[in-house]
Amino acid sequence: MTTAIIGTGNIGGTLARHLVRGGEPVVLAAKDEAHAAALAQELGDLASGASVEEAIADADAVVFAVWLDTTKELIATDARLLEDKVVVDPSNPLGFDENGQMIRTLPEGQSAGSVIAALLPAGAHYVKAFGTLAADALATAANREPESAVLFYATDDDTAATTIERLIHAAGFDPLKAGGVADAGRIEMPGGDLHQAGMNGAVLDLDEARATLAAEVPA
Ligand SMILES: NC(=O)c1ccc[n+]([C@@H]2O[C@H](COP(=O)([O-])OP(=O)(O)OC[C@H]3O[C@@H](n4cnc5c(N)ncnc54)[C@H](OP(=O)(O)O)[C@@H]3O)[C@@H](O)[C@H]2O)c1
Repeated sequence: MTTAIIGTGNIGGTLARHLVRGGEPVVLAAKDEAHAAALAQELGDLASGASVEEAIADADAVVFAVWLDTTKELIATDARLLEDKVVVDPSNPLGFDENGQMIRTLPEGQSAGSVIAALLPAGAHYVKAFGTLAADALATAANREPESAVLFYATDDDTAATTIERLIHAAGFDPLKAGGVADAGRIEMPGGDLHQAGMNGAVLDLDEARATLAAEVPA
């Protein structure tokens, strides 16, 4: 099983390091192919660099570790290649206004997950994951001891669930399903009650995450 990681910035670069450390082959792509090639060289034999199209074509699972609008553009261009792939989406509905302030880019109540899932071809297997922690916490909380840290995910798709559980374990975390695509907003920011930012920065272990999930869903 090979995982394509599109985007080698804060999230994609961290995830590539974790997955390679966990023994997973990765194929990396970025806007500038030299960025992907440099990271692949640093990570060794389990990693390679490619164009976005080559990376998707070579992979079983594709992580779009790019900003939401870029994910939308890439899916529009490469929809045909995504048939039968597990598509992993860490995006948050965030952008910057003219003053450089971070703003929500979708209406309240609309998740990035619902937008991306609706753009995919019918044969793709969508899952929201790997965006539930800030990038620095994603980097430092892998293989935490004595209690592993949890990464929530959301999907309606059994194939996607099986794959993301394997990838989250390989990355050094415990997976926990937060719900289906309709619940994706709970693990996005701003506003998600199960996103790290909605929990005062907490990085939960499995018991804590199960208890939080079992608590009443906010109105
Ligand atoms: N940062 C966080 O703490 C955090 C936390 C949770 C979720 N997220 C979400 O994760 C996603 C990525 O965030 P980030 O902070 O990792 O972003 P980032 O550091 O800005 O990295 C973005 C990456 O996207 C690549 N890219 C841009 N346009 C592309 C294109 N057309 N084709 C292929 N690659 C392209 C860039 O390539 P180059 O390297 O060539 O420029 C770069 O590697 C976002 O949706 C964000 O909302 C971020």
